[in-house]
Amino acid sequence: MPRYLDVQAPEQGVQLITLQRPEALNALCTELLAELAAALRAAEHDELTRVVIITGDRKAFAAGADIREMAERDLVGILNDPRVAHWQGIAAFSKPLIAAVNGYALGGGCELMMCADIVIAGTDARFGQPEINLGIIPGAGGTQRLLRAVGKPLAMQMVLTGETISARHALQAGLVSEVTQPELAVERAMQVARSIAAKAPLAVRLAKEALLKAADTDLASGLRFERHAFTLLAGTADRDEGIRAFQEKRQARFQGR
Ligand code: CAA
Repeated sequence: MPRYLDVQAPEQGVQLITLQRPEALNALCTELLAELAAALRAAEHDELTRVVIITGDRKAFAAGADIREMAERDLVGILNDPRVAHWQGIAAFSKPLIAAVNGYALGGGCELMMCADIVIAGTDARFGQPEINLGIIPGAGGTQRLLRAVGKPLAMQMVLTGETISARHALQAGLVSEVTQPELAVERAMQVARSIAAKAPLAVRLAKEALLKAADTDLASGLRFERHAFTLLAGTADRDEGIRAFQEKRQARFQGR
């Protein structure tokens, strides 16, 4: 049983994972991060799970890496940090990952949110990379993913000043996909997740992979990857089912085959 997570059994293909370390605003201590990586590893191999939602509570999605823990690590400790592998595991999750964010998403919390594919934010969410205030810089993707998401001027401003931005600003900048009332963020994430969970799983998986390629490859390679993935799907039973269902004017029943 995880100590810092509530991991629900999947329902209608959707698994909800809630970070539960309220006494430290869900700061991502190494044990929490390890539990999250393990939960996603299990979800990766679970046929009943098609989409995962990560959320926190109303005060904080996550307020960053655990600063107390960080204080105890010297250079060699950071060099051999097991967290790097946990972060890689989280980022490698191949199924859609949705973040439902209320309150603070700071430092590692903002970086965790940026590992998600879709972000639904409550109006009270605040996003930031405040590491500069501690004399360090983001260390889990906060310089690379933030710049790719919001562009250079805003990423520079956030990382160099450590100042936070509002949910509305994050929406405008392309850091989140939707803003809702705080109490509706998880419910809206559920709706989006259920919609995705009803689609053909192999197409969803390849669509995610192709979209992520756009961020880290040149256009010609990306287009080649897209075409290969598109061609691969022509061999799936779900493609036949999808097209047949359209022609027969009925709902498709996808099997992941
Ligand atoms: N690590 C450890 N503990 C944390 C924490 C963190 N990142 N953030 C908050 N807490 C703890 C506080 O120490 C406090 O604990 P105590 O009650 O035992 O003192 C508790 O959570 C509640 O926090 P506050 O009393 O500070 O709550 P607040 O409402 O006054 O302020 C806040 C909220 C502005 C988010 C403030 O807590 C804060 O600035 N937190 C730190 C944010 C931060 O700097 N994050 C970046 C961490 S570095 C990082 O993430 C590196 C990386 O890229 C991988």
